[in-house]
Amino acid sequence: MTEKICIITGANSGIGKAAAIQIAQKGVRVIMACRNQERGEAALHDVRAASGSDAVELMIVDMSLQASIRAFAKEFTARYDTLDVLIHNAAAFDIRATTRAITEDGIESIWATNHLGPVLLSDLLLDALKRSEQGRIITISSKGLVVYPFLKIDLDDPEFVKRKFSVQKAYYQSKLAQVMYTYWLADPLKNTPITVNAIRVTNVRIDVDTRYPDMPKYKRRLYALKSKAAITPEQMAETYTYLATSADVRTTTGAYFDDSTHMVSSSGYSRDPEHIAAVMTLTYSYFQPD
Ligand SMILES: NC(=O)c1ccc[n+]([C@@H]2O[C@H](COP(=O)([O-])OP(=O)(O)OC[C@H]3O[C@@H](n4cnc5c(N)ncnc54)[C@H](OP(=O)(O)O)[C@@H]3O)[C@@H](O)[C@H]2O)c1
Repeated sequence: MTEKICIITGANSGIGKAAAIQIAQKGVRVIMACRNQERGEAALHDVRAASGSDAVELMIVDMSLQASIRAFAKEFTARYDTLDVLIHNAAAFDIRATTRAITEDGIESIWATNHLGPVLLSDLLLDALKRSEQGRIITISSKGLVVYPFLKIDLDDPEFVKRKFSVQKAYYQSKLAQVMYTYWLADPLKNTPITVNAIRVTNVRIDVDTRYPDMPKYKRRLYALKSKAAITPEQMAETYTYLATSADVRTTTGAYFDDSTHMVSSSGYSRDPEHIAAVMTLTYSYFQPD
């Protein structure tokens, strides 16, 4: 049997790292796609040790930068012919941010990292996924969106140039766009073996001391409270592992799964084909030819 290959972006911490361990334990070769060499190497060491698998590798990509994503895809496809699973786990959500950050590409960084980056990376790896016996693309969204049932992508100002920046609003906008992208991409691929599904991540414990060491005390206390109701990254990663490896979902596509691997619905707006088309037209306006 040929070895299956799974790329997980942002696999050096939290849910991505837990998923890397679980998926490696299933005998799948895992490529941990991380932006920082040092953090990536430390996590690679942990993932190999915890999974007992040597078929785990680190490759560097900054999901906020198109040149980095293109370089990553080029390196991956030079080394491997086929990709079986692509998990778009990496995300920017710096809860300390009070102003918009701009990437080297000149794009607001949450929009660039959480939405544009995954779309570009899937496009660049689509041929490798097509060579898989059954390729899977998995996007990551957030249960927090249920609190914003009427949220829309601001087609006129997705980067908060004209409106006041809020890290929450920017984050949920990017996660809503990922759900819409999932439906959009699943449609033309529905008669192929490639499936495209989204995961609705619930409240998951974040290691605040490591992730945000300089966070003010009052916010730290708030997070400690939030964490009490949270599940562990390992528990959440089980849904990633299920969608990445289970035969039960071989033919399931264009679906949205919660942390109990149940299919859930998203807002009416996010399912509307006209709105989806408008968001994807906006999305592709950001990409320059290679
Ligand atoms: N935790 C929750 O309660 C929750 C709730 C809803 C949805 N989610 C979603 O679940 C996913 C995993 O989150 P988590 O809780 O595991 O958080 P996390 O521990 O903060 O993990 C985020 C990962 O993304 C990476 N990343 C950020 N920007 C990147 C970039 N430009 N290029 C490459 N990698 C980048 C981070 O790398 P660095 O170490 O280099 O920063 C880190 O490895 C995310 O998509 C998140 O939005 C989480």
